[in-house]
Amino acid sequence: MDNQRNCLVTGGTSGIGAAICRRILADAGEEDRVYINYGHDHRQAAGFLASLSDRDREKVTLLPADLSTYEGMCAMTCELRTLTDHLDWLVCNTGISSRDTFADLPFEQWQKIVDTNLSIPAYLVRELRDFMQPGGSVLFIGSYAGRQAYSSSLPYGVSKAAVHFLASALVKELEPYGIRVNAIAPGFIETPWHANRSTESRERINNKIALHRFGTTQEVADLAHAVLSNGYMNGSIVDIHGGYDYL
Ligand SMILES: NC(=O)c1ccc[n+]([C@@H]2O[C@H](COP(=O)([O-])OP(=O)(O)OC[C@H]3O[C@@H](n4cnc5c(N)ncnc54)[C@H](OP(=O)(O)O)[C@@H]3O)[C@@H](O)[C@H]2O)c1
Repeated sequence: MDNQRNCLVTGGTSGIGAAICRRILADAGEEDRVYINYGHDHRQAAGFLASLSDRDREKVTLLPADLSTYEGMCAMTCELRTLTDHLDWLVCNTGISSRDTFADLPFEQWQKIVDTNLSIPAYLVRELRDFMQPGGSVLFIGSYAGRQAYSSSLPYGVSKAAVHFLASALVKELEPYGIRVNAIAPGFIETPWHANRSTESRERINNKIALHRFGTTQEVADLAHAVLSNGYMNGSIVDIHGGYDYL
């Protein structure tokens, strides 16, 4: 067994996922590889790749695949298995939401959110657990919206609450493989998700945060890296929200 570390980050070309990829690359060894999935936006993916240094870019392979479907997930894992012989870190970061109120939300949209945020990540772990090495680490990006019922989309909050439970429950499933599994639950983080938020809405949110600002993707990525690396963390859900609703 060599010391090469292979990582897969889903939804890694934007926002939190991209920051996690950069953080992993920042102290990656010569042989380490980072496989970065994204869904639809090829221009964004190309832009992310172009923003990396030559040294980092050589370690990266993009894996476009629609992770809202089981077929898309299987296509990605098949391709990954042709590219490398093992995986060490798996970051399930892809997540979607909806602006519709529950009263207006079509059932198909509920299903798509739950599939993308919960069901596909669960099956991705099942699919890759025998491809991961003992000592491997799985990290789910949950959400503080799954810890506390605030005014986000209902299926988003429900699916993220389930992701936190999934992270705890998978400890038993992954014990025979020697793989740790944890989740982090970010509050409001500055990503393209919030690009169209009005000034009033931002002020309302900032007034509820003890630090009076959104978090940065770097702050979340530093935590993600610490949790992925820590050999004794297993089954933990770690909040990062600047003191939301503590006022
Ligand atoms: N931003 C926040 O305030 C916040 C707070 C708590 C938790 N989170 C969680 O953090 C994670 C990342 O959020 P973000 O704000 O960084 O989002 P983002 O900037 O919109 O990035 C989302 C990433 O996921 C990919 N993606 C979306 N649908 C996909 C699909 N069907 N298949 C594969 N990839 C797909 C996107 O690629 P394409 O665009 O190419 O599809 C992109 O790379 C999510 O799980 C979110 O729930 C975010």
